[in-house]
Amino acid sequence: IIRSLSSSAVRSGVIKHVTIIGGGLMGAGIAQVAASTGHSVVLVDQSEDILKKSTKGIEDSLKRIAKKKFADKPEAGAEFIQKVLKNVTTSSDAASVIHSTDLVLEAIVENLKIKQDLFSGLDKFAPDHTIFASNTSSLPITDIANSTSRQDRFGGLHFFNPVPLMKLVEVIRTPMTNQKTFDALLEFSKALGKHPVSCKDTPGFIVNRLLVPYMMEAIRLHEKGHGSKEDIDVAMKLGAGYPMGPFELLDYVGLDTSKFIIDGWHERDPDNPLFAPSPMLNQLVEQGKLGKKTGEGFYKYK
Ligand code: NAI
Repeated sequence: IIRSLSSSAVRSGVIKHVTIIGGGLMGAGIAQVAASTGHSVVLVDQSEDILKKSTKGIEDSLKRIAKKKFADKPEAGAEFIQKVLKNVTTSSDAASVIHSTDLVLEAIVENLKIKQDLFSGLDKFAPDHTIFASNTSSLPITDIANSTSRQDRFGGLHFFNPVPLMKLVEVIRTPMTNQKTFDALLEFSKALGKHPVSCKDTPGFIVNRLLVPYMMEAIRLHEKGHGSKEDIDVAMKLGAGYPMGPFELLDYVGLDTSKFIIDGWHERDPDNPLFAPSPMLNQLVEQGKLGKKTGEGFYKYK
């Protein structure tokens, strides 16, 4: 009896049905991976038009994967795509689809007030056992969790772009996150085929806390005339074995995103020199040179 009780207790903590809010770059990627690993997924965004684009993006990505994975078995590839797509439904009304979901994972715009409004609205409609999580890169999970009455069932799940390729998930616990929730989020990350690491709710968690100040220091080095951006990039690739140099990475991430992160941290911790803003970065953003996505950032793209 004890064994069956404990196994059913474990089962009740397993995340099978997930609702992903935000079908952009990150949300669509997470939905694809969750569906590919046998989870039942509802993808939510603001309009049916946006959701059509998200679904098309998932389909195209699956086609690329199938082409590689089932190179000489196109029929098996088509079957794989259909099977994954069957696990994804879409909706533009989150409140109406979360009545039996195990996890609500948010990947909407990086704005505290908008995230708080979303979660406080959904708190009333979600079942008691439902875990809430945010994919935020730079906002405190605690501040988002405080908009709900389920702070103990709230955590962070921070994925990396592109989600289908990047193996890491940072699992974030706030001082209020309970152990069962944290364990369920770790297990869910593993079930997605990812490698989770445990993080506290501190600015940038692990990866961005190290990466963003590193990229900012590269800009400062260049601003002071201590090295050209080309030389700094080559130096870090050939000398440190990094796949991209800091300026290439800044252009890939987006200069607006990088500026947004550093400005937010600087506001919260103005005396920390690692979080100091950079005039050169600010100027590029002002000129609309945001990196690869706009055709120019630190470098020009065709
Ligand atoms: P995105 O702009 O590609 O997608 C955001 C989506 O959310 C859009 O489709 C938008 O229509 C939708 N949305 C906005 N408000 C909504 C609402 N109230 N209800 C439903 N849908 C809404 O943004 P992206 O890049 O996917 O980022 C999403 C989140 O993930 C942000 O919090 C960001 O900080 C975080 N993140 C981003 C990474 C990146 O490399 N882009 C990496 C890791 C985390």
